[in-house]
Amino acid sequence: MSSSNLKTFTLSNGDVFPSIGYGTYKVAGASIEDIVADAIRAGYRLIDGAALYGNEVEVGRGIAKSGVPREQLKVTSKVPPEAKHYDDVIAAANKTLEDLGLDYLDLYLVHWPANATVHPDQWNELNMDTWAAMIELYRQKKVRAIGVSNFKIHHLEPLMKTDVKPMVNQIEFHPGYTQPEIVDYCIEHDIVVEAWSPLGRTRVLQLPLLEEIAKETGKTTAQICIRYALQKHVLPLPKSSHYERMKANLDVFDFSLTPEQMEAIDSLPETGYSGLDPDTNPVG
Ligand SMILES: NC(=O)c1ccc[n+]([C@@H]2O[C@H](COP(=O)([O-])OP(=O)(O)OC[C@H]3O[C@@H](n4cnc5c(N)ncnc54)[C@H](OP(=O)(O)O)[C@@H]3O)[C@@H](O)[C@H]2O)c1
Repeated sequence: MSSSNLKTFTLSNGDVFPSIGYGTYKVAGASIEDIVADAIRAGYRLIDGAALYGNEVEVGRGIAKSGVPREQLKVTSKVPPEAKHYDDVIAAANKTLEDLGLDYLDLYLVHWPANATVHPDQWNELNMDTWAAMIELYRQKKVRAIGVSNFKIHHLEPLMKTDVKPMVNQIEFHPGYTQPEIVDYCIEHDIVVEAWSPLGRTRVLQLPLLEEIAKETGKTTAQICIRYALQKHVLPLPKSSHYERMKANLDVFDFSLTPEQMEAIDSLPETGYSGLDPDTNPVG
C-alpha cells in the first residue's frame, strides 16, 4: 500500500494500481459488454478477468465501448489452468490479447499453481516452466506486470529465487477467511495481495457482526468487507452486475474501521470459505 489514503497500491515494478478493482467472473445480464462499460463508467479503472471465465471477447468490447483511453485502465488476465508448459503459456497470452482486442496487459497472473495432488512429482517443475514463460512475456512488454493467484507459500518460494519475482498474489480473502500467513508473507516480500471474492460471494454479508458494524458506521455490509480488505493492505476485486452496487462498492473512502472493529472481524471463526484449496484443486 503506497499512500495513507488507501487509494492506490504500488507494485514492486513501480506501477501504480487503483486500490479497488472490478471482478468479471460470472458477470451476467443482457450484455456483458454493457456491464463492463458500466463498471468503467461507475469509476473502476482496474478490470480483473481470466481466460477461464470464457468472456474475454465481451470484456474487451466493454473496455472499448467505455471510451476511456487504454492508458488510463489497468487490465488483468490469467493463464488458463490447463496451460502449464512454456509454449502453452505464451500461446494463451496471445489468445487472451486477441480476444480482448488489446496489445498489452497491465497484469498477467498464473491462475492456479500446479499442485502435488494432481502432479505429485512434477508440480514445482511445471510452475517453474510456467513462470519462465511469464518472465519472457514481461520482457517482451506484452504484459507490464506478472504475478500469481492462489499460490501458497510453498508454491511461491521457488519463484522468489528467479530473476523476476511475482508482483501480485490474488487469493480468496474476506471476513471469515483471511489467510493471514500468506498475506503476511506477501507483504513482507513486496507482493501485492489481491482479494478474490472479497464479499465471500455474498456468503458473509448477513453475518451479525458485519451487520452491527454496518449499523455503527452507516455503511452496508458489502462496504464493510471492502474497507476491511483495504485496511488489511489487500486490494479487493468485488464483482457486481448492477450499476448501483458497482458504485456503492467504490464508496468506501469516507469512513474507516476502528482498531476494535478490525480486531472483531479478524477474530471471526472460519466462515464463507469457497472450499477451493490450491493444494487439492483438480485444475492444479
Ligand atoms: N483468482 C481466482 O481464482 C478467482 C476466483 C474467484 C473470483 N475471482 C475474481 O474475483 C472477483 C470477485 O469475486 P466473486 O465474483 O467470486 O465474489 P464477490 O465479489 O465476493 O461477490 C459477488 C457477489 O456479490 C454480489 N454483490 C456485489 N456487490 C454487492 C453489494 N453491494 N450488495 C450485495 N451484494 C453484492 C454480486 O451480485 P450481483 O452481481 O447480482 O450484484 C455477486 O453475487 C471475480 O469476479 C473474479 O474477477 C478470482
